[in-house]
Amino acid sequence: MTTLKGKTALVTGASRGIGRATAIALARAGAHILVHYGRSVQEAESLVTEIRANGGRADALSADLATPQGAAMLAEQVRSIVGDRLDVAVLNAGISKAVRIADYTIEDFDNLFATNVRGPFFLVQQLLPMLGEGSNITVISSAVARTVVGKPGVDNPSVLAYASTKGAIETLVKNWAAILGPRGIRVNAVAPGVIDTDMSNFTKTEAGREVTLGMQALKRIGKPEDVADVVAFMASDGARWITGASIPVDGGSKL
Ligand SMILES: NC(=O)c1ccc[n+]([C@@H]2O[C@H](COP(=O)([O-])OP(=O)(O)OC[C@H]3O[C@@H](n4cnc5c(N)ncnc54)[C@H](OP(=O)(O)O)[C@@H]3O)[C@@H](O)[C@H]2O)c1
Repeated sequence: MTTLKGKTALVTGASRGIGRATAIALARAGAHILVHYGRSVQEAESLVTEIRANGGRADALSADLATPQGAAMLAEQVRSIVGDRLDVAVLNAGISKAVRIADYTIEDFDNLFATNVRGPFFLVQQLLPMLGEGSNITVISSAVARTVVGKPGVDNPSVLAYASTKGAIETLVKNWAAILGPRGIRVNAVAPGVIDTDMSNFTKTEAGREVTLGMQALKRIGKPEDVADVVAFMASDGARWITGASIPVDGGSKL
């Protein structure tokens, strides 16, 4: 049973896409939502308004998680709202990039790792004093952590660097789960396939849609809500015996 009544939940990157749908799903389950955003202030505020209009509790918080101080700044704001008890953390904020091997720059690589790996790494460090027995962390990974997508070839764009950030995050999830398990804290990854968001705007083209459907057993494009419902389950007591796992949510991609 997915109930989070009386619980507090932080969702990073909740202004848009998968994070937004996740914040809505957790709010429906009864949690007080901390809606984190980077730049999309209007989207974040409209989400807070929507959750409150539906009888829920929500607050917006901003921090650039690609900066060295971003994680600590966010944790400080979380503490000022929830005090010393955060029940659920969903580490969702992330960026992607698809280019040919020859076109990757040092800056691209550093931005991807700063946002997708360093941010979550230090956010867990900074949130730890607020995470107690029975709390849990879900990290949004990706199917590309384990599977090569697209058409491999040096002349084709690939998400090579992005994929390696998701490989790193899955390694962190296993380590966090082992280290934090004795404190009663669960840590899992949810690994979406292609989901229709700003990040995956190639699904809007006929060619992109065809490639995507060609990889999947289920023949439609995944929606943010398809991922959000699984995250809400992972955050609930129904998932109390699951830790250190990575759950594919990809319509049966590349079976
Ligand atoms: N879409 C897919 O097909 C897919 C597949 C597998 C995994 N994922 C993963 O799912 C997660 C969400 O992706 P999405 O598709 O929902 O992406 P999206 O629609 O592009 O949204 C990204 C979110 O991350 C936030 N964000 C990005 N950089 C940030 C930064 N430096 N500081 C703070 N916030 C930052 C954005 O906030 P602002 O707009 O407020 O700056 C936004 O809320 C990512 O981790 C992504 O890798 C996506």
